[in-house]
Amino acid sequence: MEVIDVLRMKEGTGKTSYANNSSLQKRVITITMPVIQAAIINMYCNISSMVTKTLRIADLGCSSGPNTLFVVSELVRTIYETCEISGRQSPEFQIYLNDLPGNDFNTIFKSLQGYLEKMVQNMGTGLGPCFFMGTPGSFYGRLFPSQSLHFVHSSYSLMWLSQVPQGIENNKGNIYMGSTSPPNVFEAYYKQFQSDFSHFLRCRSEELVPGGRMALTILGKKSEDRFNSDGYYIWELLAMALNEMVSEEIIEEAEMDKFNIPQYPPSAGEVKLEVEKEGSFIIDYLEVSQVEWNACEWGVSTNNQNNHNVGYDLAQCMRAVAEPMLASHFGESIIDEIFRRYGNILCDRIAKENPKFYNVTVVMVKK
Ligand SMILES: C[S@@+](CC[C@H](N)C(=O)[O-])C[C@H]1O[C@@H](n2cnc3c(N)ncnc32)[C@H](O)[C@@H]1O
Repeated sequence: MEVIDVLRMKEGTGKTSYANNSSLQKRVITITMPVIQAAIINMYCNISSMVTKTLRIADLGCSSGPNTLFVVSELVRTIYETCEISGRQSPEFQIYLNDLPGNDFNTIFKSLQGYLEKMVQNMGTGLGPCFFMGTPGSFYGRLFPSQSLHFVHSSYSLMWLSQVPQGIENNKGNIYMGSTSPPNVFEAYYKQFQSDFSHFLRCRSEELVPGGRMALTILGKKSEDRFNSDGYYIWELLAMALNEMVSEEIIEEAEMDKFNIPQYPPSAGEVKLEVEKEGSFIIDYLEVSQVEWNACEWGVSTNNQNNHNVGYDLAQCMRAVAEPMLASHFGESIIDEIFRRYGNILCDRIAKENPKFYNVTVVMVKK
């Protein structure tokens, strides 16, 4: 399975699309936004002499849907207001939206005109012009010319690995790290993260100007213990649904054993270690925040909020993320059934426990 061919959020604006099932990710962006705003203001105030006319901002792993343009408008608004307060003219903005080539860039670009008009309405004509570019490609390689970017943002994208780690054929009955995974599986996932994240840092260090900043939020784990279930519990419950279907011979055991999710949830310490080893950045901020699993209903108005709905809504959120990958391995026909069972399991766990996702946010300055 080549990750680049199968990893994408569910396209379009339909019922199961990422656009309609990404409230949890929006909640994470909202929680981390004050840190991101402080980072872009600090960058702008410290290197504004280098931003001659155009401020260049990249959002990596932008996906498609309301979150994509929400992030960008908050960043633009922050700079615009900073200029207003200090009596400076707003710069021009060049905004690069990056994701893998299979991402639904069309949906983003179709909504752009209305979005730009709203932005000018809200901020006034003093806002510098905004130019949008799509940048398809993997952020584990070079995406931009040398020293061309001032600010890089990424939310809930860098936990995705460039490939499923090698040497984990013995991860039977699991689709990820799990409580029954042998230690070599945890080791292989961590090694893949180290290699991918250090490549990422090396590429961005070429592309950012000195003094440029990067604000990254990664779905991670709170504990520094690599075996802690914080980071893998959500996928372990999906494996439970798949294993039920194996025992009922709906899914072949061999197919189950061959499937593994290309993701790693780093701790703050694991992120810090890679940044320090790579050596091109100084860490300005590093914290772990949390969102409860029921954040998938954040901002969604419903008169009937209970754990029952939350479990199914979280299953929908996970479906929007994992459906293309699962469908390419197990086939389209069993997707509804997988997520019906997964929803039941999530409802049960949310009723009994209070599970959370942990977010590692790091802001770093290019030396
Ligand atoms: C969960 S979505 C997050 C989208 C958006 N940032 C948000 O917060 O709603 C993760 C995105 O990262 C993208 N992604 C994963 N690996 C990538 C890579 N190597 N290069 C570029 N994008 C990648 C996925 O395609 C997906 O659109």
